[in-house]
Amino acid sequence: MKGERILVAGCGDVGSALARVLVADGASVFGLRRRPDHLPPGVEPVAIDLRRPEEMTRLPAGVTCLVFAAAADSSAEDAYRAVYVNGLRNLLNGLAASGSVPARMVFTSSTGVYGQTGGEWVDETSATEPPGFSGRVMLEAEAVLAEHASRLGVAASSLRLGGIYGPGRTRLLDLVRSGRATCVEGGPRWTNRIHVEDAAEAVRHLLRIDEAGGAWVGVDDEPAEQCAVYDWLADRMGLPRPPRVPEASEARRGANASNKRCSNRRLRASGFRFRFPSFREGYAEMLAAGD
Ligand SMILES: NC(=O)c1ccc[n+]([C@@H]2O[C@H](COP(=O)([O-])OP(=O)(O)OC[C@H]3O[C@@H](n4cnc5c(N)ncnc54)[C@H](OP(=O)(O)O)[C@@H]3O)[C@@H](O)[C@H]2O)c1
Repeated sequence: MKGERILVAGCGDVGSALARVLVADGASVFGLRRRPDHLPPGVEPVAIDLRRPEEMTRLPAGVTCLVFAAAADSSAEDAYRAVYVNGLRNLLNGLAASGSVPARMVFTSSTGVYGQTGGEWVDETSATEPPGFSGRVMLEAEAVLAEHASRLGVAASSLRLGGIYGPGRTRLLDLVRSGRATCVEGGPRWTNRIHVEDAAEAVRHLLRIDEAGGAWVGVDDEPAEQCAVYDWLADRMGLPRPPRVPEASEARRGANASNKRCSNRRLRASGFRFRFPSFREGYAEMLAAGD
């Protein structure tokens, strides 16, 4: 990526992990966020609120690659739309106004675009009928990017990430440690995840390969049953396995119905290999590091 000028819009956990490897590649990397005080070494800070079109005059010139990895602060629909759809639009318009035509663009989307609940396998060809606004907003943002890219005749990829975990992202560890984790009876409940470093490397991969463009499922090699993950973590930490509880009420099941197995076959077929192929390698490293 030497010689490229890469804008990472939303330089948080994934964005910073990506920025680090891109700097090591020899690229000029710009880290955009509202408070860019603690970016990795070698990353140029760009202080912009994506929701404010008037701030786009601060964008760097000559951007050759764009990554959008910002995350909404709250899980309210207006906050989602403000960042993922309007923020992305503001950014694309701002880049166009400043004369940049990135040849490669990647949007970090989510496996939340899939509404399947029966434990079935899903991939890039599967139906996207999300039950809630969050998945719908992600699809809208994917469409904004795809439409802009097709007008420019450049490649744009939407990387649909599963649950991101990694150093400092200890939600599951905390659940098991605190004894609040429970295993709901009534059949397997599949979950899909990706280590933050693999998520960053997958974005980098999509910035480099010829095949780039369209949707990509970004999860590790192994969808995992929620309960198998809890049990494995409990065993590793020498704690009791979580209690089995009867299936939740209809209303609760409706709210937490996600149950699908996401396939990373397209990503792997394009040559990508995971450093953390399953939750076991990732959490083993986190536990060894004291997380
Ligand atoms: N968390 C998951 O499990 C998951 C699953 C699927 C997909 N994703 C997607 O993956 C991407 C990366 O996630 P992450 O975990 O790396 O997120 P993160 O660590 O929370 O970082 C998000 C970044 O966005 C910036 N940001 C938020 N609002 C902004 C605004 N209005 N203007 C400019 N910058 C803004 C934040 O910086 P400031 O606060 O300084 O602005 C922060 O640096 C996101 O697009 C997320 O939606 C996440």
